[in-house]
Amino acid sequence: MSWVHALARPEIVALRVYEHAAWRPDLERLHANELPWDPAGGDGRDGLNRYPEPQPRELIERLAALYGVSARALLLGRGSDEAIDLLCRAFCRAGEDAVLVCPPTFGMYAVSARIQGAAVIEAPLRPEQGFALDEAAVLERCARTTKLVFLCSPNNPTGNLLAERSMLRIARELAGRALVVIDEAYIEFSGRASLARRLEEFPNLAVLRTLSKAYGLAGARCGALLADPQIIALLAKIIPPYAIPRLTVSAALSRLSPQSLEAGRAQLAALLAERSRLQGALAALPGITRLWPSDANFVLAEFADADGALRRAASAGLLVRDARGYPGLGRALRISIGTSEQNARLLESWS
Ligand SMILES: Cc1ncc(COP(=O)(O)O)c(C=O)c1O
Repeated sequence: MSWVHALARPEIVALRVYEHAAWRPDLERLHANELPWDPAGGDGRDGLNRYPEPQPRELIERLAALYGVSARALLLGRGSDEAIDLLCRAFCRAGEDAVLVCPPTFGMYAVSARIQGAAVIEAPLRPEQGFALDEAAVLERCARTTKLVFLCSPNNPTGNLLAERSMLRIARELAGRALVVIDEAYIEFSGRASLARRLEEFPNLAVLRTLSKAYGLAGARCGALLADPQIIALLAKIIPPYAIPRLTVSAALSRLSPQSLEAGRAQLAALLAERSRLQGALAALPGITRLWPSDANFVLAEFADADGALRRAASAGLLVRDARGYPGLGRALRISIGTSEQNARLLESWS
């Protein structure tokens, strides 16, 4: 038995997949109980009256090229949230298995695990070391039943990158025992190369990427899991049959055109410049008691009076994220970098 099948839930390995309507664009479709007319007035051959291609080939190939992996190593989902959910469902037996997370971090890892009935083990980041990964704690707390280790780099909500060496050491130590999932939702804002380049060397490493952040397509819901093709094949068994809407596919393909990628690079540079300006100005505000560095498109700040800061931002028409619910962040707010006008208005409200 392969290590992926040994790690996965046996009932998922044994599952007979749903046979969706065959994807045969060369033939006219009288096999999927669709309406033959396109409500938009087209000829009905490829409009919204038709189910989409189950795993859309052209988009998968474009993303695989963008992320530097083979198409067999990529699963497309409705945002990276869907991949997090699929991983928990495929690998964690309810009431028996666990995932490990490093708080303060993105909440969906624990939520998806709990929905699946998996336990959540914590190995907190080290606040006094700039929220660095505690390698030893991760390895120590990984029980035999820990199937997934979620590491977020850059981390949400703290904004810092995790040390590549630590993440790879954890993957090496857990080889064959657990899957180490690196969430790179914000990697484009950091200038750091993706760990996708190490996937072949570390088969128990998986990488999450998304078009929601630097590519500006949060509304389209398009994310990817990059991993060993056996893991991709396993998750492809349980993703709903027509998961990626046609409108998402066309929005994503258009966003990945050479012209749009070029424009996106200029937007990214503008956002990074705005991030430094905002950080500089926040650092000078007396009501801010601590400001953490950021490798993402947000900054985390600690306020003398977080309630007052939330109220003043709202009266300027702006919503920032209350981060006080995260462990160790009792007075912190997370601020997404906006346009220069929005950032100026926010600063004005706090001056
Ligand atoms: C670290 C992290 N991972 C994943 C996601 C989910 O992104 P997506 O829009 O791809 O589902 C988010 C969203 O905020 C995030 O912060």
